[in-house]
Amino acid sequence: MRHHTTFRQLEIFEAIARLGSFTRAAEELYLTQPTISMQMKKLTDIVGLPLVEQVGKKLFLTDAGRELAQTCREVFGSMDRFTMAVAERQGLKKGRLALMAVTTASYFAPRLLGEFSRLYPGIEVSLKTTNREQLLASLADNLADLYILGQPPEDIEVVARPFMCNPLVVLAAPDHPLAGQQDIPLARLAREPWLLREPGSGTRAAVERLFAEHGLELRPRMALGGNEAIKQAILAGLGISVLSTHSLTLNAPDQFAMLHVQGFPICRQWYAVHPAGRQLSVVAAAFLDFLLGQDRALNACPNA
Ligand code: PGA
Repeated sequence: MRHHTTFRQLEIFEAIARLGSFTRAAEELYLTQPTISMQMKKLTDIVGLPLVEQVGKKLFLTDAGRELAQTCREVFGSMDRFTMAVAERQGLKKGRLALMAVTTASYFAPRLLGEFSRLYPGIEVSLKTTNREQLLASLADNLADLYILGQPPEDIEVVARPFMCNPLVVLAAPDHPLAGQQDIPLARLAREPWLLREPGSGTRAAVERLFAEHGLELRPRMALGGNEAIKQAILAGLGISVLSTHSLTLNAPDQFAMLHVQGFPICRQWYAVHPAGRQLSVVAAAFLDFLLGQDRALNACPNA
């Protein structure tokens, strides 16, 4: 029988056995009904026994049909295991990596992805950036392979690996009266007009937490939906803000005054996170290794 049966015939039969219908098998396999019927007839001739029988409108498997269906499942199972083993071996030659990062990580994540892509050109990478709150919702829905954020979530079980320092600093316009002063008390800052990121931002949450810990009230003058808008507003003299030093990557060093405030910089870390129950793909595991192996200089936290 082995020499006469084709793999396609077994595939067709397996679909009919599983779905209980020629029509549905034809739809699933994108074949016409006459093709399905013809292949089934050939398979039945080769086996020499009927495989299915029609009772009324219902299709039943005969004993021989049931045994063949079981054999098909075993054969296809072995094929699947083989395909997976090959994919593992090919591992980093092909594959996809879906990364999701908080807004502020957009200042460095594309560069890291670029370097990773150069190491593994066959891997298709994608990066979605969104604020912390939305990223956590996606994490709960398991939408990406790996997530980059400023603090691991508390209410979702995750594996979180810190890979780089993330200092948050107080920024003001260069001509701000507090620029150049030393050891400015946090209480003094509370009197300034504040520019904050939108609710849901991790940066905003970190600033609010610091003020709350000191029993101080933060009076936002304006909420803006991104780091760039905040920087523009600072330069326009609208107020001061706290941002990650990573957001200054493309700015000239003296474009902003970094205020010397007690309790700053807030030394946060960047974390690579994935749900605890989910095994990382070969590609995601390689990217995580790559992140953890980043240059020490990049990992070093100034003033930490
Ligand atoms: P954000 O997150 O870009 O949403 O502010 C940054 C962070 O969590 O540090």
